[in-house]
Amino acid sequence: MKVLFAGGKGLLGSNIIPLLKSRFDVASLDIDEWDITDPGAGEAAINREKPDVLVNCAAMTDVDGCEDGKELAEKVNSAGAAILAGICSEQGIRLVHISTDYVFDGVKGSPYTEEDTPNPISFYGKTKLWGEERVLAVTPSSLIIRSQWLYGVGGQHFISKVIKIGGEKGGIEVVNDQRGSPTYARDIAEPLAILIEKGESGIYHISNSGSCTWYELALEIFATLGMEVRVAPISSQTLNRKAARPAYSVFDTGKVQRATGVVMRNWQEALQEYLKDVRTKWTR
Ligand SMILES: NC(=O)c1ccc[n+]([C@@H]2O[C@H](COP(=O)([O-])OP(=O)(O)OC[C@H]3O[C@@H](n4cnc5c(N)ncnc54)[C@H](OP(=O)(O)O)[C@@H]3O)[C@@H](O)[C@H]2O)c1
Repeated sequence: MKVLFAGGKGLLGSNIIPLLKSRFDVASLDIDEWDITDPGAGEAAINREKPDVLVNCAAMTDVDGCEDGKELAEKVNSAGAAILAGICSEQGIRLVHISTDYVFDGVKGSPYTEEDTPNPISFYGKTKLWGEERVLAVTPSSLIIRSQWLYGVGGQHFISKVIKIGGEKGGIEVVNDQRGSPTYARDIAEPLAILIEKGESGIYHISNSGSCTWYELALEIFATLGMEVRVAPISSQTLNRKAARPAYSVFDTGKVQRATGVVMRNWQEALQEYLKDVRTKWTR
């Protein structure tokens, strides 16, 4: 089965593509070769690569940047997704569209299931929800994967940023009123592969299990690395970022577990493995 990635050079794509190569014939393109907002470029990429499945990892993911760049955010995250859905529908290609926990408002207080009603509180979250809705309207048999709090080898993410700042400054302030599940991007590969192989459709929540706040995650990172860094808890209000984030966005991952048999491991276990992976990289 041939699987083509759009936005494949990003954090998620670059972490899962190497793992999927043992199961699928994988090709990957990114914005330099294929801008998903350009229908002609999409037709050309599909005609050239002839995939059975298209995985859309392409997105404008700068959550605060989406508040300032609303037009581009809508164009990429919503209209771009709809363009891909149109091409997939015409050509009989299965579409896997990646989405986010930021479609939720964070007030539920218990793990979000796929049946919970989204209510995004940021423009990024709104565009991602519109993308989901447009994909499902055009190609109802699409697979929508929502994930959250991703980190992985390469790319910019919370963990790489706090290690850098903590190492340089010896102290860091981190928000302690947002709770979610840090997720090693590589852990998405196995359940995603099984969902693709089984031809599943609909929405699935995939994240590592357990939960913490960003502050608790920073403490765990520095403790694991044996770094002496002062970590001060602060509120989202104090940080005062442009976009609001859900206070609580933990997923119920029961649906993906039932569909694939994959039990998502605990976030601490995944984090330990990631820090071991990158430490080996640093000391090589
Ligand atoms: N990171 C997270 O914590 C997180 C959490 C939940 C869900 N997600 C979702 O997971 C998916 C992948 O995210 P990620 O973390 O891998 O993001 P990422 O690292 O920003 O990767 C996205 C990729 O898409 C590319 N791209 C942007 N606009 C494009 C366009 N018009 N056409 C083609 N490619 C384009 C980006 O290129 P440039 O870098 O050059 O812009 C980048 O290579 C997204 O749908 C995101 O919403 C991410």
